[in-house]
Order: sequence, then C-alpha cells, then structure tokens
Amino acid sequence: RMELVTIRELKSHVGKTVRIGCWLYNKRSSGKIQFLQLRDGTGFVQGVVVKSEVPEDVWEAASRLTQESSLYVTGTVREDARSQSGFELNVTAADIIQIAVDYPITPKEHGVDFLMDHRHLWLRSPRQRAVMVVRAQIIRAVQQFFDDNGFYLVDPPILTPSSCEGTTNLFHTKYFDEDAYLTQSGQLYMEAAAMALGKVYSFGPTFRAEKSKTRRHLIEFWMIEPEMAFVDHEQSLAVQEKFVSHVVQSVLTHCRRELETLGRDVSKLENVLAPFPRITYDDAIALLKERGHAIEWGEDFGAPHETEIAQQFDKPVFITHYPTAIKAFYMKPHPDRPEVVLCADLIAPEGYGEIIGGSERIDDPELMADRFREHELGDEAYKWYLDLRRYGTVPHSGFGLGLERTVAWICGLDHVRETIPFPRLLYRLYP
Ligand code: 4AD
Ligand code: MG
Repeated sequence: RMELVTIRELKSHVGKTVRIGCWLYNKRSSGKIQFLQLRDGTGFVQGVVVKSEVPEDVWEAASRLTQESSLYVTGTVREDARSQSGFELNVTAADIIQIAVDYPITPKEHGVDFLMDHRHLWLRSPRQRAVMVVRAQIIRAVQQFFDDNGFYLVDPPILTPSSCEGTTNLFHTKYFDEDAYLTQSGQLYMEAAAMALGKVYSFGPTFRAEKSKTRRHLIEFWMIEPEMAFVDHEQSLAVQEKFVSHVVQSVLTHCRRELETLGRDVSKLENVLAPFPRITYDDAIALLKERGHAIEWGEDFGAPHETEIAQQFDKPVFITHYPTAIKAFYMKPHPDRPEVVLCADLIAPEGYGEIIGGSERIDDPELMADRFREHELGDEAYKWYLDLRRYGTVPHSGFGLGLERTVAWICGLDHVRETIPFPRLLYRLYP
C-alpha cells in the first residue's frame, strides 16, 4: 500500500504516481471523461478519469461518487497551468471509503440560519476553509511577533472570582460553594505577570454575556493581551502599530490563495504599515459633529461613529484620550487633564470597527485605592490586585486585540460568525 501524500505536496511529485485521501466536493462528466473536484483540507485538485484508460471498476467507482463521499485516489501528477492548484491528477485507481448520501449543503444558495445549523459541515466549503486558514496564520503571526520581541506567553485563569471590564455582561457559574465568573479579560492577571516577567502576552478565550446582536459581537471570543512593565501609553501605541502591521503583512505573504478565494481586495491590506494615524477623542467628536452626527463630548462611540472616523483614513486609526468616565477603572488619567485617560482604541479601516482596546494603567497606590472606592471594588476578590501597587509599583501599559474582529477585517467578512469555527452568538449554542 502506497503512503499518502497531501494535495499541498503534489508540486514535489510531478510525473509520479501518488495516492491521496480526500473528499469529493463536485463532479462533472462528459460521458467519456469524469472530472472529480477533490479536497483534502490542504488544498483542492481536479482528478481526471478517462474511460478508455482505466479498468471498468475504476470508472464505475467514479460514477457512484456523490458530494462529500470519502475516498483514496491514486493518480499521476500532471502540471496544469489552468487549474487553481497548478496540478491535475490523472486517476488510475479510486477506492471508496464511504458514499455520502444526501449531503445537506448543496452548491445552491442557503439561508444563514440553515448554514449556521450545519456549521460542522459548512466548515468544509472552500470559503470557510480559507477563513480558518487565515485565522491560523494570524495566530501564528501573533505568537511569532511577541516571541521574537522578548515577551513571555502567560496563561491567565478562565474561572475568576471578579470582573475586569464591568459587571453588566458577566457569565456566572458556581465554583463549588462560591460564585465564579468566566473571564472577560485576563488583563488584571497579566499585570501581575508583567511585574514578574517584564513583557508578557496571553492568548485565550474570553466571555461576555452581551445581549447585543450585532455583526461585531460574539459571546465567546479569543483575545491577545500583552502587558508591558516600564512602558508608557505612547510606547504601547508604537508596539501596537508594529504588531498589527506584522500580522497583516504575514497573512499577505502566506495566504494569497485564501485571500483570493475570499475575494479580498488586497491593495487595501498592503497599505497597512506602521505608523498609524492618531486622532484624539476631542478631535473625533468635533469631526463627527461637523459631519452632522448628534453626539456630545462624554458619550461613547457607536458603530456608525467609528465607521465615519475610520473612513477619513486608509489605515487603522488610533482614537486616543477618551473621557475617564466612560472607560475602565484601571486606566491612568492624563497628568494635566484628569477628565481623560491615557488610552486608545484602534479602529480598523473599511468599517470593521474596534480591534484593540488598551491603556497605560494606574500605578499610583493612592489613586488606585480611590478608584476602588468609586467603583465599589472593595470586595475580597480584588484584594490581590492592590498588592501590585503596594509592592514595587512601576509604570506599565497593555492592550487587548480581539482575534475574531481582526479575522473579519483581514478576510473582508461582514459578520464575525464566520471568523471562528463554532461561534457562540446570542441565542446560539449549537452545534
Ligand atoms: O476593549 P476591550 O473590552 O478591552 C479589554 O478587555 C482590556 N482589558 C484589554 C486589555 O487592555 N488587556 O476588548 C478588547 C478587544 C476589543 O477591541 C475587540 O476587538 C474585542 O476585544 N472584543 C470583542 N470581540 C468580539 N466580540 C465581543 N463581544 C468583543 N468584545 C470585545
Ligand atoms: Mg473596548
């Protein structure tokens, strides 16, 4: 029995006979020739079965194949400039593993609910596969960036006794006799880790019980959270723009074919190189008012506001110095203007919204104690966090990048539900 090769490896087997394990995703026949569209996860290739050249049983086996039937195909690899993979298989044998009966996802159009109910199968489609390949490359590029720049990977807990980003959207669970919550962000723990290891980052799932049904919100999403000791707000922005540029350029280098499958306009991505433009919250408010938006200083931005601001630029844009009152308790106030904080949200171009939220953190123990009182965090659950300001406090900054929003932007998808293999959405926990 021949060892299997993958479709991705065909280029090093030109002229040779190989055996692949695959699924049939489509088929055409002229009566004398059958064209089998095959996929194995690593790529797509056309298998050509010529009636006059193969034994009767091979022709019969090919004739019985239905969409998503599984099989082993043996054939000779031929270069073919017209095909998407650049190669064709001249089929000499086909061993069926299973004939799939009535595969529910046909090449015709399906509604979103139907596709979401069949997400476990929908993932097999070329578009969905392309998104998952880009997602994997983004993760690889993220880890490469931080590993190469002196950061340690640290894993914060998932089950926590407290909240990081406010108490309105917490998932509650019992932890034996105690109350516990699924993490909204690992940040508070990453601050502790930064005091131990200097520069750290985490990559893990986070949970928000948000009752909002938008194109940008998931209930369970993955976040990358770097935290850096002795780094101020400005220096953190410099890390962020280098980081995001690296991720985008890495996808452009390694995922050309997938971006093509997705119909992504890559010229818009090629431009994503540091430095990124910056606009203060104050100037953003003025800009929005000028353009007829009914918004006042002190209000938070909604999606239409972010889109309007993003449209002024052809790269991601930092909106900096938001009002203290609408941001998290841990953000450091501006030294000359305590009504705003040293923070920034990074807004992706083309209307994809906020992909990063970050800030310099309060390092002063007194001020942190005041914030605890104002936000009523007096609770035992946060006691340890004050220790970080009591024992060798230092200036430090960090940020969180939402993986799925980044995937949506880079892939050019209009909804985050296609950016994660099994999305958890408002009222959707299946499959
Ligand atoms: O702006 P957020 O809430 O910031 C934090 O959680 C900080 N503690 C991060 C830090 O400084 N370490 O969330 C960060 C990012 C957002 O910019 C967005 O990209 C993503 O996480 N995000 C979501 N993505 C999908 N669905 C949701 N419901 C999201 N909420 C936030
Ligand atoms: Mg945010």
